[in-house]
Amino acid sequence: FSLQPYNTFRINALAKQFVAVHSKEELASVLQNHNDIFILGGGSNMLLTQNINKLVVHVALKGIEIVDTNDDFVWVKAQAGENWHEFVLYCIEKNYGGLENLSLIPGNVGTTPIQNIGAYGVEIKDTFFCCEAMEIASQKIVTFDKESCAFGYRESVFKNELTNQYIITSVTFKLTKKNHTLNTSYGAIEEQLAKQNISNPTLKEVSNAVIAIRQSKLPDPKELGNSGSFFKNPIVPKQLYEQVKLKFPNMPHYPVSETEVKVPAGWLIEQAGFKGKRFGDAGIHKNQALVLVNYGTATGAEILAVAQNIQKTILEQFGISIEAEVNII
Ligand code: EPU
Repeated sequence: FSLQPYNTFRINALAKQFVAVHSKEELASVLQNHNDIFILGGGSNMLLTQNINKLVVHVALKGIEIVDTNDDFVWVKAQAGENWHEFVLYCIEKNYGGLENLSLIPGNVGTTPIQNIGAYGVEIKDTFFCCEAMEIASQKIVTFDKESCAFGYRESVFKNELTNQYIITSVTFKLTKKNHTLNTSYGAIEEQLAKQNISNPTLKEVSNAVIAIRQSKLPDPKELGNSGSFFKNPIVPKQLYEQVKLKFPNMPHYPVSETEVKVPAGWLIEQAGFKGKRFGDAGIHKNQALVLVNYGTATGAEILAVAQNIQKTILEQFGISIEAEVNII
């Protein structure tokens, strides 16, 4: 069974068996009857470097419901298999605020908390209320509030202590119904809105600005296989940053704490000369060096080799190690 349609990198890896589950009951019964499974959500944050010699379980639970509401807020619960961007558009349509900056991110709702997806100054943790997850061992449904998810920059408990122990089945967001807190301070959004002479943007206008920026920089996985940012932006000690700055005075950086700064990996990769480079069918996107792409028939191993080459070069040239954001399978 080819997993090519189920991963946005469009890697033609094979699964021994495949099943799509549409309800918690179906999921529980699959878990009861198989002990070696591989969970697949939207397939937008993984690189398949080999065939999966297991039963692949595709989480396809659907549905969006309002679970609570008051004058100011609404609690919206989406099932794990809902497409993320369609869910964001649904919220904007209803004038529910908070997710607009996260427009056009590939993948499904259920996987968004795992790496605390973020873009343009907003992260999922800002509107996350809780999620439900099935414990693989017991098939019990457990509710995780925001605190127990231990969100960090592209991090959560589901990527750390609880790896491979739970399957997220739904996520509930607390969104604004009025007095929306818009996050338009990110340079590119400001520019995009100014271009259109918009000073008091609506949720839809912010979303459209984000969509325009993403479309200008990031490849559409439907046209060119990719998994968004392949690496995380490294957080480096200030001391190291000061050292590198002597040689590269224009290096962009963002403060993280008293002692650390975040450096854009895309900038490092571009400086190292990789932007737009192609190695067979594996390459580095021409508009955003943080994104690795599959031009057609690249294998996961070929893309991984390019990634390792980049990591090695960045370490040699800058003394900075960059870590994959994408899950390498
Ligand atoms: N830059 C370069 N060359 C490049 C790419 C970036 O010099 O090829 C520089 C830019 O000029 C800018 C800085 O790097 O100074 C940051 O670039 P950008 O604003 O494009 O964002 P990013 O840090 O590369 C992060 C997220 C993206 C998210 C954007 C916007 C990570 C790993 N990535 O990218 O998330 O959309 O910010 O908020 O944090 C994703 O995770 O898949 C993803 C696309």
